[in-house]
Amino acid sequence: MSALMEHEHHEIDKIIEHFVAGLGEGKLRHKDLARANDLLKRHIYVEEELIFPALRAKGMLAPVLVMLREHGEIWRTLDALDLEVGPGTAAEWVPDRCHQLLQQLETHNGKEEPIIYPQADTLLTDEQQHAVRDFLHSGKMPDGWVCAQAPNG
Ligand SMILES: [Fe+2]
Ligand SMILES: [Fe+2]
Repeated sequence: MSALMEHEHHEIDKIIEHFVAGLGEGKLRHKDLARANDLLKRHIYVEEELIFPALRAKGMLAPVLVMLREHGEIWRTLDALDLEVGPGTAAEWVPDRCHQLLQQLETHNGKEEPIIYPQADTLLTDEQQHAVRDFLHSGKMPDGWVCAQAPNG
């Protein structure tokens, strides 16, 4: 299961990097940004709704709290990007904002991958892991869902 989650980390990074590269060439690839936004928010949803509760139930309280706080920060950056990229124009600091997001993700994923995910592979029941895999395959985040520590959550 953790391999799938890690794969999403890389996929999301790549899409954001592709979007930034486009900006450098004067191209505003809205599709990239929308895809990164959807995928990243859904990824956070899976963690907060399907993975973290099981970890907390098994006593992993502090590491999960750190992850929730960082999700809130990532969410804030995503919302800022949303406001800064208009239909035909992007604010001049959008590349910096994207780098900020990539940096936040690097820090965050650098903890999830060695600490959180291996524990999830061990502590989640087969059924719970199956639910995660199923959702990653075809699940849709409920409309209007926001992460636990979202700025307007
Ligand atoms: Fe996360
Ligand atoms: Fe993650």
